[in-house]
Amino acid sequence: MRHFLSSDDLSPAEQAVLIDRAIEMKQTAPGVGSRVLEGCSVGLIFEKPSTRTRIAFEAAVFELGGHPIALRAEELQLDRGETLEDTAKVLSGYLAAIVLRTFGQERLDALAETSTIPVVNALSDLEHPCQALADVMTIMENFSDPSNVTVAYLGDGNNVCHSLLLAGAKAGIGKIIAACPKGFEPIEPIVERAAAIGVETGCRIRVMNDPAKATKGAQVLYTDVWVSMGQEEEQQMRRRVFQDYRLSSQLLAGASPDAVVMHCLPAHRDEEIASDVMDGPRSVIWEQAANRLPAQKALLEWLVTQDLGGPRPPASSNNKTQKEKDKDGRRVR
Ligand code: CP
Ligand code: NVA
Repeated sequence: MRHFLSSDDLSPAEQAVLIDRAIEMKQTAPGVGSRVLEGCSVGLIFEKPSTRTRIAFEAAVFELGGHPIALRAEELQLDRGETLEDTAKVLSGYLAAIVLRTFGQERLDALAETSTIPVVNALSDLEHPCQALADVMTIMENFSDPSNVTVAYLGDGNNVCHSLLLAGAKAGIGKIIAACPKGFEPIEPIVERAAAIGVETGCRIRVMNDPAKATKGAQVLYTDVWVSMGQEEEQQMRRRVFQDYRLSSQLLAGASPDAVVMHCLPAHRDEEIASDVMDGPRSVIWEQAANRLPAQKALLEWLVTQDLGGPRPPASSNNKTQKEKDKDGRRVR
């Protein structure tokens, strides 16, 4: 049984099938497509706020014929000390899948440990793999040959950046550059893993500190907030550190003439991205946000059928044994 806890949980071939399916689902009117969740419920647990992820999942479950049950964590006994492992055992008896937005990645691992139904990462501090599916889908829709595309990600080397590096490498994007202030680069294991995937798919991964150099001639300029959920206490420091990394019309002028601008949203206008760039003709941000729905529909369809065809990926986080996970130190009790 497969989960979706990381952008590394799909092989390049499987990710391509899933994104093709999402593009197909986008063309299908609600109510006439797949009803794979008919008679089933999906639990959506949010330990952090969400607009896009939660509502796209609720709509996706409904459009697939199922019933979404969305809950804030404080409405559950989780908030009074019931363990994630016990919660997963119980919910496995009621639901077809569990979607969790949380803080540490180890909370997703704990849920997946005892769950007998698929678990989905709806954002953790480490990764945002559902976002990356819609991001790659948007890039595929805008550029016919991903191997000729350079993606320049500006700002914080955070969860969104991590999943973009992994999923972008799997998609065979020509080059992905993360331009981040010193000390805020994506973490080394993710950069190394993306680079290793890139060796197979033809994607080069670069990390640098110069936003002008990173964006020069690039086809995709991407940014995210400077202060992620849970980092509110660092707000002032982060605004100072990131001020040269704003996605501005000046940076856009140095990019490729066919460049598009992306942002996972929510945006802090005129902080990490200039308002005129966000609303300008090169922005595909609204299209990117809209793609969350078909991407999550395709994801749920795969998870409940467990069928994407093609070869299976090598062992990854969610199909390791408990012993292997303990050895990796990824599991926190
Ligand atoms: N991009 C994204 O995940 O948005 P939400 O936080 O609104 O879900
Ligand atoms: N990096 C942001 C993404 C929000 C969708 C956060 O974690 O808050």
